[in-house]
Amino acid sequence: MKKKLLVTGSSGLIGSAVVEGFSEGGWEVAGIDNNMRADFFGPAGTRAGTARLKELRPRFRHIEADIRDRQEVMRAMSDIRPRP
Ligand SMILES: NC(=O)c1ccc[n+]([C@@H]2O[C@H](COP(=O)([O-])OP(=O)(O)OC[C@H]3O[C@@H](n4cnc5c(N)ncnc54)[C@H](O)[C@@H]3O)[C@@H](O)[C@H]2O)c1
Repeated sequence: MKKKLLVTGSSGLIGSAVVEGFSEGGWEVAGIDNNMRADFFGPAGTRAGTARLKELRPRFRHIEADIRDRQEVMRAMSDIRPRP
């Protein structure tokens, strides 16, 4: 079975590098990000990074959600079912 990873903060500096690295390593990768960066860096936020990841890694699945929302996180976990 394919290894699956769910990355939090997947549009950020570290998260996007993790998405790319594990995708290259053959993992199926999904990420959660809510564009919180926009609060600090303006309306563009992480949208450009998310679009870039989708372009680079067409199989990458982006989930727009806040990781402080337990229900959203539980939904993503049962949907993606991360596994080594
Ligand atoms: N960059 C570094 O050198 C470095 C070094 C050590 C530790 N860290 C830690 O690693 C983490 C990530 O750092 P980074 O540099 O990638 O930051 P970043 O700001 O580039 O990325 C963080 C991402 O998380 C998302 N995010 C923030 N709050 C969220 C929420 N509630 N729900 C969903 N998504 C949310 C943001 O939109 C952003 O895309 C931070 O905790 C940072 O303190 C970073």
